[in-house]
Amino acid sequence: MSNPHHLLLDAYVMVSDKYGRQLRDLRISVTDRCNFRCRYCMPREKFGSDHAFMPKRAFLSFDEIEKVVKSCKELGLQKVRITGGEPLLRPNLPDLVKKLSKLDLDIALTTNASLLRKYAKELSEAGLNRVTVSLDALDQDIHSKMTDSNTSVDTILDGINAAIEFGLTPVKVNCVVQKGVNESEVKKLVDHFRNTEVIVRFIEYMDVGRTNGWMLGQVIPSFDIINYLQKYFDLNPLNSESSSDVAKRWAHSDGSGEIGVISSVSSPFCGDCVRARLSANGYLHTCLFASGGHDLRAIIHNSEDIQTLTEAIRAIWTRRDDRYSELRSSDNSALPRIEMSYIGG
Ligand code: GTP
Ligand code: 5AD
Ligand code: SF4
Ligand code: SF4
Repeated sequence: MSNPHHLLLDAYVMVSDKYGRQLRDLRISVTDRCNFRCRYCMPREKFGSDHAFMPKRAFLSFDEIEKVVKSCKELGLQKVRITGGEPLLRPNLPDLVKKLSKLDLDIALTTNASLLRKYAKELSEAGLNRVTVSLDALDQDIHSKMTDSNTSVDTILDGINAAIEFGLTPVKVNCVVQKGVNESEVKKLVDHFRNTEVIVRFIEYMDVGRTNGWMLGQVIPSFDIINYLQKYFDLNPLNSESSSDVAKRWAHSDGSGEIGVISSVSSPFCGDCVRARLSANGYLHTCLFASGGHDLRAIIHNSEDIQTLTEAIRAIWTRRDDRYSELRSSDNSALPRIEMSYIGG
């Protein structure tokens, strides 16, 4: 991009929302199914055997997803994250990665890692850059309770090792911390992943969706996590790689790695939010807490070229004024909300 003509072109096509935020990061949900039932995401009483998931025939095809990504790329997109539900449940996922890897974007995948050993090599060969693994506990009992699954922690750790073996690094581990549930795991996770290519991030439990019965009292602020960890480790703050990064980074002073904290509740980051989300059935969501999405299905299915789709997304983004986490209040907390398993983390 050293050609000044390209720079001009970039400035021209880039799209900004009402607060001047660009569209840089697209999270693509490829399925709303998951083989776990994390209490904070898909509690079994709400996502039981009678739950109406999306009909699979409604899922966008990989060609259709590629079309959306190409359209967003026209508008300045730089990063793509493939999510779910659990994305590795979607058949032939490496074929999607192969298509997207030709588009010169950073491509990451969020997974619970239960199937990562099986797919790591294929995903890496298809061009995936890196993975983020959800892991809330090393203790088997706590893990089983939180995920309401019988997958062993060893399987997850083996999946993480597979990701490292096949170069899907740095691997990030996301741990949602819930008061009274998994605080005991925080220090253990930091110890476990020191001196590895894994960055553990502690996430404040969020009021996302309508099914997890979230209460503010269950949130442990990142500030407390860092204070607690400083008793055991010497951690120094690191600069963010980009202003839109959600995690605040901290490094071990002895060079044994870094950790992160994501303060979505105590210190919201809407001001720099450049993320859009695409549901598996073709709705575009401009905020994790949006009550609804923009139905792109007809345009995706019918338009021959990507121009119509690009213009539709540009129009949606230009009108965007979401900043839920900054406004979180009793006024908006009663509105309907989409579930995390529907649009991914
Ligand atoms: P990279 O920087 O690309 O590695 O990814 P990331 O840190 O942006 O992504 P990840 O999906 O791992 O985000 C971690 C967690 O932060 C998510 O699981 C959410 O809990 C939270 N999060 C991410 N994006 C948003 C957002 O836009 N709004 C809010 N409120 N929380 C978010
Ligand atoms: N609060 C915070 N993070 C959540 N995730 C799912 N539900 C929540 C929640 N209520 C995130 C976790 C998980 C990813 C898929 O989504 O980080 O790793
Ligand atoms: Fe599945 Fe991830 Fe939700 Fe857990 S957090 S239920 S692993 S989608
Ligand atoms: Fe972005 Fe909405 Fe999250 Fe704020 S609450 S950071 S606008 S997704």
